[in-house]
Amino acid sequence: MENSIFGKVDQYISERLGNDDKALAGAIESLENAGIDNMSISPNQGKFLQVLAKMVQAKNILELGTLAGYSTIWLARALTPDGKIVTIESDPQHAEIARENFKTASLEYKIDLRVGNALDILPQLEAEDRVFDMVFIDADKPPYVEYFESALRLARPGTVIVADNVIRNGKILDSNSTDKKVSGVQRFNDMLSRCGKVTATILQTFGIKEYDGMAIAVVD
Ligand code: SAH
Ligand code: DHB
Ligand code: MG
Repeated sequence: MENSIFGKVDQYISERLGNDDKALAGAIESLENAGIDNMSISPNQGKFLQVLAKMVQAKNILELGTLAGYSTIWLARALTPDGKIVTIESDPQHAEIARENFKTASLEYKIDLRVGNALDILPQLEAEDRVFDMVFIDADKPPYVEYFESALRLARPGTVIVADNVIRNGKILDSNSTDKKVSGVQRFNDMLSRCGKVTATILQTFGIKEYDGMAIAVVD
């Protein structure tokens, strides 16, 4: 979508309000250098997450799916001065790259990077009785429902839960889709529509990235 009107307007906005700096640009570059697909959120999406984190004065944030730590850096910078972000990444190579990027951004002290499958690490956080002010779900798509249910157990009234990539180029409209990522988010969106515990909507995301959407929920 980079050369479409949406891509150009996205750039217009990011030049003014979503400018990423050396540390953020370096995180994207680190993916290119390692030959890893860039699945990071866009600069304006990073800024959007920052705005949400500040709205809830987030002191504790949880992220599923770190990749190079691009979104983690945006979120870590929005924390209260004493705040911390736990970010979970299953791929050791991604985690290693992210760790370097956190050092470059001088944010290591705010970031608790846990390497492992989110489905294994979430129960550990639950056993620790952790409570988060904001959760960003952006790991693999098939267990999105399980991630959200765990996020609810780690939440309090007012916690904001955001889930990335829930529209997938509109493929969610195809109820016969055999794409596991699509069926994962279809299952998630249907669960969200029936969930009585949150007030939620889905924001369509247009811009430099593929046409997609972010679910935004606040716990009642
Ligand atoms: N949030 C990042 C992008 C994440 S891409 C950003 O916007 O900058 C998705 C990441 O989730 C990948 O790095 C992938 O390795 C990781 N992942 C996939 N399955 C996972 C799982 N079960 N547990 C934890 N991380 C997982
Ligand atoms: C994919 C995952 C993401 O988190 C994303 O933002 C874009 C694509 C994917 O797995 O295809
Ligand atoms: Mg994503």
